Amino acid sequence: MPNTILIGAQWGDEGKGKIIDFLTDEADVVVRSQGGNNAGHTIVIGGEKYVLHLIPSGILRRSKTCVIGNGVVLDPVALVAEIDGLRKRGVTVAKNLLISDAAHLVLPYHRALDEQREALKGRNKIGTTKRGIGPAYGDKVARTGIRVCDLVRSDVFEKKLALRVRENNAILKSLGAAPLNGKRILADSLAAAEVLRPFVTNTVVYLHKAMSAGKSLLFEGAQGTFLDIDHGTYPFVTSSNTTAGGACTGSGVPPHRMDRVLGVMKAYTTRVGEGPFPSEDPGVTKNLHAMGREFGSTTGRPRRCGWFDSVATGFATMVNGIDELAVTNLDGLDAVETIRVCHAYKVDGKKLAVLPSDPELLARCTPVYREFPGWMKSTENAQKMSDLPVRAREYVQAIADLTGARLSIVSVGPGRTQTIRL
Ligand code: GDP
Ligand code: IMO
Ligand code: MG
Repeated sequence: MPNTILIGAQWGDEGKGKIIDFLTDEADVVVRSQGGNNAGHTIVIGGEKYVLHLIPSGILRRSKTCVIGNGVVLDPVALVAEIDGLRKRGVTVAKNLLISDAAHLVLPYHRALDEQREALKGRNKIGTTKRGIGPAYGDKVARTGIRVCDLVRSDVFEKKLALRVRENNAILKSLGAAPLNGKRILADSLAAAEVLRPFVTNTVVYLHKAMSAGKSLLFEGAQGTFLDIDHGTYPFVTSSNTTAGGACTGSGVPPHRMDRVLGVMKAYTTRVGEGPFPSEDPGVTKNLHAMGREFGSTTGRPRRCGWFDSVATGFATMVNGIDELAVTNLDGLDAVETIRVCHAYKVDGKKLAVLPSDPELLARCTPVYREFPGWMKSTENAQKMSDLPVRAREYVQAIADLTGARLSIVSVGPGRTQTIRL
């Protein structure tokens, strides 16, 4: 398989985990290059459900190597809990996992600050996952972060942590929040360091050696294009580059070694957290929730739902250079009589074909819809395109055409086998 960057083409939760698991069969190494345990990637194999947050979704295929790259922000205690949880379920997590020594840590003061800043924003909150992601990337950019290479040297870690706890406790106090216990953070982090130490290495060197040996890499994007810190619906975004470029900076693999970009998108749209969402529709949300679908994999929050938006996915194709598309959750539309697709926005009497950068303007955009007749049949057992009802085939091809990339995978259920390869 060519080196492939897989990214979400919407607002996250597109079904990336499921598609990664499917494609890992053909790859050698699966790499996470950004985000942290704000991600929740669901994989269903033979009725068994796994939700991965920091560990790449390739871990369920034993012979593959999984890499947590330098661009990831890593909560050491949460990562140890994730490793333990997988091992208890019989999943091998040993030499098949590598952790970058240059990845930044998420520590309890990041989580506390995330919580406090959200509370301060009140009605203007972002609706973060409260995993400390924003404050951790903030420290990285401010050059005050602590990294994995520090964590595994306990004397260095202790000194750096003491400084950071002192400063962050002063900030927390000024916000009216309780200060954190530095000794406790130190003890918990050093205990996690003991578990993580065997996995820690220079993953840039590992990835380059793997490529020289002819191995193929699969980059597992977290979040989605419109949560990107540069290209998303700022400020209602996460704090990393979720778009294709993030795979290079977050792994140390140069752009010319990337062969293909695969965009994953749902056959409709969802978003969790606050922020503009032009094609949101309470009717779609109600229907999907009534089916027990679209609750967050990380926080359990109900996701906001709406119609497919090709203004958004078309932009995602441009900014990521998407070559191929995987459309997931087609079965979510099985019982919808008339399906809508937003292909333009209207604002102040004008038609827009691209998302405006100004969030206030985007919030005022109303969708322009095209309607498609529903197929009103179950698609969940389809194994090939010809098994799909004609209207389902026409719909999925139409949204790929509007998005502007080649359709290569269609997913009709959460299970590994409910996947059609074109
Ligand atoms: P990710 O963050 O992009 O990996 O996506 P999540 O795992 O957060 O959310 C996607 C949800 O859709 C999960 O519950 C998946 O099991 C589920 N899923 C993925 N593809 C399909 C599909 O084609 N049909 C159905 N019914 N569920 C799917
Ligand atoms: P996966 O990888 C969906 C959203 C949060 C919030 C915003 C900022 O599973 O697709 P953060 O905690 O990152 O500071 O929150 O981003 N968000 C996600 N939404 N899927 C995700 O990841 C997300 N990770 C963050 O809901 O709106
Ligand atoms: Mg998710």
